[in-house]
Amino acid sequence: MKPELFVDLAGLRLKNPVVTASGTFGFGIEYARVVDLAALGAVVLKTVTLKPRQGNPPPRLAETPAGMLNSIGLENPGVEAVAQDILPELKRRGVKVIASVAGETIGEYATVAERLAAAGADALELNLSCPNVGRGGLHFGSDPETAAAVTRAVRQVAGNLPVFVKLGVMGADVVKVATAVAAAGASGVSLINTLPGLAVDWRRCRPILGNITGGLSGPAIKPVALWAVWRVYAATRLPIIGMGGIMSAADALEFIVCGATAVAAGTGNFVNPRLTVELVEGLNRLLAAEGVVDVKELIGAAHRRSG
Ligand SMILES: Cc1cc2nc3c(=O)[nH]c(=O)nc-3n(C[C@H](O)[C@H](O)[C@H](O)COP(=O)(O)O)c2cc1C
Repeated sequence: MKPELFVDLAGLRLKNPVVTASGTFGFGIEYARVVDLAALGAVVLKTVTLKPRQGNPPPRLAETPAGMLNSIGLENPGVEAVAQDILPELKRRGVKVIASVAGETIGEYATVAERLAAAGADALELNLSCPNVGRGGLHFGSDPETAAAVTRAVRQVAGNLPVFVKLGVMGADVVKVATAVAAAGASGVSLINTLPGLAVDWRRCRPILGNITGGLSGPAIKPVALWAVWRVYAATRLPIIGMGGIMSAADALEFIVCGATAVAAGTGNFVNPRLTVELVEGLNRLLAAEGVVDVKELIGAAHRRSG
């Protein structure tokens, strides 16, 4: 028998727990030739800001041992383009959409969120943790009070849409920030964003990235991400979208037993553009082989075994 993969993520009904990590899957449509988008739990869009952004100077990607460094700098066409052209197209294709939001001020977060909600997003993800932008981004998520203030402002304009807050592990303790955003109305948290890193060419005596520093992602950060999911789940029982180095269905299940309700694939999409659909197939296969009838049984299961 096929295992049950349906999950309820803070009221967002997903046919399976597999979603895309913001910024690593474009706006989804770019992948439609290789991935049946409607077969995924949801597509999380690249982060959107109020005005279009060109992003950081090149080079913006560098390969590292067991991962990747990026300094894209939130390049995007701005909220109007996404609301008018991209979101309606995804909805026509039957795709569940989590729209990722950023702003330079709290007011901008709320404006972008309200527009994306009106355009048909099924949920919002607040990017409070991008390490690659000068203003906005990181400092919002590294302080519990500021993170709560952004969440409160968005909660007021988001109607009954689930609002997830995406956090990193730099700055204040992630459990403190998660607790603060939950009190401010967040439905759940997305864990984790990239970690700061640097790659250098010693012969040219120059950092490789145009922005000098970047965000580290991929298998190198998986233990850190699992640690964050474990701790936030243990302390809060909040719904969690877990990510960081997921390359296989077994990786995804590690996040789920640590407390994630959904899992996002990021860097893995660059290695294998079909990774997301293969994760769904892999979950079916692994759960069936282990005799697990419903993936929900495994959410947080490692906590119950280690108490
Ligand atoms: C090229 C690239 C671009 C990214 N852009 C965004 C973004 O726009 N918004 C965001 O919240 N996270 C962004 N991220 C972070 C990912 O969504 C994810 O949190 C992180 O990469 C960890 O997952 P992974 O190891 O599976 O890639 C980006 C990551 C990469 C590699």
